[in-house]
Amino acid sequence: LLSIADLTPSEFTKLVRNASSHKAAVKAAFAAGEQPPKPLHGALTGKTVAMMFNKRSTRTRVSTEAAVQLMSGHPMFLGKDDIQLGVNESLYDTSVVISSMTSCMVARVGAHKEVADLAEHSSVPVINALSGDFHPLQTIADFQTISESFPSRAASSSESSLGLEGLRVAWVGDSNNVLFDLAIGCIKMGVDIAVASPEGYGIPDAMRTVIQAAASGVANPGKLSETTVPEEAVKDADILVTDTWVSMGQEAEGQKRLKAFAGYQITNELAKRGGAKPDWKFMHCLPRHPEEVDDEVFYGPRSLVFPEAENRLWAAVSALEAFVVNKGKIL
Ligand code: CP
Ligand code: NVA
Repeated sequence: LLSIADLTPSEFTKLVRNASSHKAAVKAAFAAGEQPPKPLHGALTGKTVAMMFNKRSTRTRVSTEAAVQLMSGHPMFLGKDDIQLGVNESLYDTSVVISSMTSCMVARVGAHKEVADLAEHSSVPVINALSGDFHPLQTIADFQTISESFPSRAASSSESSLGLEGLRVAWVGDSNNVLFDLAIGCIKMGVDIAVASPEGYGIPDAMRTVIQAAASGVANPGKLSETTVPEEAVKDADILVTDTWVSMGQEAEGQKRLKAFAGYQITNELAKRGGAKPDWKFMHCLPRHPEEVDDEVFYGPRSLVFPEAENRLWAAVSALEAFVVNKGKIL
């Protein structure tokens, strides 16, 4: 699982749906003082999941470790100072060796090519835990969060759709890895997405082609629109989303970026000026900094950020079940 682009709408729908149903079942079992229910309990007995992270992580690390534990497996965290991940050894060698000893690699890397190289040479499934281009586990959790926040939509869902067609997402901020997979998910699910980024920080042409390709074969794809004006993106939006303006690895250009993004902070005033829907919601993958969204929105009643973060656990469970337990068959 390198990107949501790898999934059909039906596969993506199932991953999101399974995440929600595992959440309900595990919570009910825990509330009753029971073990995690089958089929999760015991699903990874005797199996090790290698977690190769060359960047910091709170949610992805904790959710993956907790998910493997729920499924009775062993999560083996390997930080950048623990193993040779593209340093002092080729990714080919690392991939062949680690996949000969474990049942899955979950990798957080710099350039997307690094996780693609690991996957190419691995004999076990590889799950992208964030690359320069994509963050599929985040997108699964994000669509779970959206579905759970618009429960009436479930009535119009189908085998290949979550019933979210016609919703409108506004992304205001940097065009980055989190946006790219979110936009692909939106197009596959019939959700329109409007992106506002400053001049020079928009979606790169090659990535736009990848995002637009997500529409192929989708009966009612969402539409991507782009602007440099935050108010334009926010117009009629059901959900406002952003992420940090300075992603990991971009720290040296931090000051320049903060200047370039001035005026892109998500606030209630921006939503009002732009004409967002009256009951708009707010999402952010976290970690969050106050410059991209103020406290009033982030901690306010419209904010879905903490359920969204919790859903990372259920997204990890769903992905491990599909790719490791069921060997890529998404049931
Ligand atoms: N959203 C997310 O991936 O957070 P972490 O970087 O803390 O894992
Ligand atoms: N865009 C951020 C996401 C962190 C989860 C980064 O790459 O640092």
